Amino acid sequence: MTTENKVVSLEKKEDIALIRIDNPPVNALSHAVRKGISDAFFHVAGDEKINAIIIICAGRTFSAGADIKEFGKPLEPPGLGEVLNRIEACPKPVIAAIHGTTLGGGLETALACHFRIALSSTRMGLPEVKLGLLPGAGGTQRLPRVVGVETALKMITSGSQVNAAEALKTGLVDKVVTEDLESGAMAFAREIIKDGSPLKRVSELVDKIVTVRGNASLFDDFRKSMAKRTRGFDAPEACVKAVEAAVNKPFMEGLAYERVLFEELMADTQSAAQRYYFFAERQTVKIPDIPEDTAVFDIGRAAVIGAGTMGGGIAMNFVNAGIPVTLVETSQEILERGLGVIRKNYDISAARGKMNIEDVDRRMALISGTLSMDDIAGADIVIEAVYENMELKKAVFSKLDQICDPDTIMATNTSYLDVNAIAAETSRPGYVLGLHFFSPANVMRLLEIVRAERTSRQVLATCLALAKKINKLPVVVGVCFGFAGNRMFAQRKRESDALILEGALPSRVDKVLYDFGFPMGPFALNDLIGLDLGWRRETSTGATIRERLCEMGRLGQKSGAGYYRYDSASRTPLADPEIERLIRDFAREKNIPQREIADREIIERCIYPVINEGARILEEGIVTRASDLDVIWVNGYGWPAYRGGPMFYADNIGLGKVLESMKSYHARLGDEWKPAALLEKMVSKGKLFVKSG
Ligand code: CAA
Repeated sequence: MTTENKVVSLEKKEDIALIRIDNPPVNALSHAVRKGISDAFFHVAGDEKINAIIIICAGRTFSAGADIKEFGKPLEPPGLGEVLNRIEACPKPVIAAIHGTTLGGGLETALACHFRIALSSTRMGLPEVKLGLLPGAGGTQRLPRVVGVETALKMITSGSQVNAAEALKTGLVDKVVTEDLESGAMAFAREIIKDGSPLKRVSELVDKIVTVRGNASLFDDFRKSMAKRTRGFDAPEACVKAVEAAVNKPFMEGLAYERVLFEELMADTQSAAQRYYFFAERQTVKIPDIPEDTAVFDIGRAAVIGAGTMGGGIAMNFVNAGIPVTLVETSQEILERGLGVIRKNYDISAARGKMNIEDVDRRMALISGTLSMDDIAGADIVIEAVYENMELKKAVFSKLDQICDPDTIMATNTSYLDVNAIAAETSRPGYVLGLHFFSPANVMRLLEIVRAERTSRQVLATCLALAKKINKLPVVVGVCFGFAGNRMFAQRKRESDALILEGALPSRVDKVLYDFGFPMGPFALNDLIGLDLGWRRETSTGATIRERLCEMGRLGQKSGAGYYRYDSASRTPLADPEIERLIRDFAREKNIPQREIADREIIERCIYPVINEGARILEEGIVTRASDLDVIWVNGYGWPAYRGGPMFYADNIGLGKVLESMKSYHARLGDEWKPAALLEKMVSKGKLFVKSG
């Protein structure tokens, strides 16, 4: 065996050469890997004794793509495209033996080989679009030549993965083996040598692209079909243009065009934001005083108290991961309703082809409903999801303390309340914490893990590991009213409510925030959630627009009217003159003068206080790092990923500028606008929240 360098080795087994990449954790195609592959090809291409070459990877996966950490820095040659062209031009058969998650530049490498053999568990995809990029090493030119234009467009613009069986069907791989990839690849190589099979150079394939050459409507239709899901993002359109070039231009010209588009995207702030965000999501589990090897408890059985919307959604996460759940309610009727909603959700998934009816039955069989708290004894974790009321929650925890085993983790799903006070109701506060799921809990990935003062490290580490198991994205937050996400969100709510009284209509505020990139504005969102959440007719005093709307029976979408009105057949918000009048009268009653408000002010007023509150949260040590706040906002509040999150956005527009605006609004609007001390400090020291702070 010769070693090209630390991460690439070359082994010759009779007349077959094995080029092995070993660059943990995911065999990213760093400079050393590219150089190693290039050198290895230089050695074997001219070696007369070698009749075939296999590229294979050590560890958990074939290459998962370019080394993202190298992006944004000057490229050290050889570039990946250059290496791949050399592989494809090799006069001897080159076989990619792939496993794990063969992604991005990894799949592009496989596409540059003449043959591809995959382990049956392999998943393949070109996820560059999720980094605000396009596959920049020939992927947009080679993939359509192999799988056809429509499949390629779908894969490249969504970044979605295909499994080995699908890949075999589309021709993306030539063979699938169920075990021992290396032996399978060796046997495959011998067959090719024996048969003298012609080399399949993807760049030379044309049959799947000539059929659509000149068919502009295929691309126009595709653009229309992706418009909604890609709104605001630049990369998907660049992906379509590159695939269009694959169809209409000769291979080398298409490749050159792909490179131009790739470089444009790489230089853009959208990609910088999305690349930053990729690492931000992976940081959240890194907690300074919780080493990665902290021992964790085994969670084999869970219990959820409360079978309402939240409780039911939470239970679904556990059963989806194969963990049995006991669901506790106070009346048979509510319990049955809760179980019915869960069943209905699964039936909808089955109807959409996401699971089959056996999967639905298997999941339902893992849930047992009960009216007796005593039935939760033996659970490794209990999550309380009862009505948001401190006294009620305290009573539940004091009861749990009597029933649960001494090492059962006891979590509250509160969105706002003091988890320390709840923990104090028990004899084992070390086992108590908050698990703040976002609604709908079976859909939203975000999970705020609320670390109370006395939560033990092992309990926290267990919940971090559990989050991964139940497919959640955890962010650890400390105790404060509303934790990180809702505390920041309250700032936006206050300002958007104020803006409509000052003269900007709800539809205008919503449009400005929608255009900023949020999936919907605050008022449409309010209508969707229901205006009566937390509202009671008995205590309502008509002190706010929302209270007045509730008093009028305008509870949002569900009642056909809220800030907007809705046609019975559609959920599209329609501006309502009655509401415009109501707001104007209300403002007059409160002596609030109405005026013309610029879009810029709407953005600043709805976003700068969010950033400022984020700075306060950081200053108080409620989160570990600023990027955790960005993860919360992108995942929990619809912040557009191409803007990185509020803290990244603040760095980008300049903290000095944010501070100046905060000061001027402070002078005009009062103390709620007082700049956070941390913001002032960062500006005076020239620091940034996430970039170099
Ligand atoms: N470059 C650099 N580091 C990477 C990486 C990459 N492409 N992919 C993963 N990593 C790092 C992660 O940051 C993480 O590091 P830490 O442990 O220090 O946090 C580590 O590898 C493990 O990653 P995950 O925690 O994500 O592990 P996982 O098992 O949950 O997922 C994965 C593995 C599916 C490969 C996932 O990491 C992933 O999706 N990676 C990115 C794949 C990608 O986007 N590839 C395209 C790159 S761009 C490209 O290739 C452009 C081109 O055209 C040449």
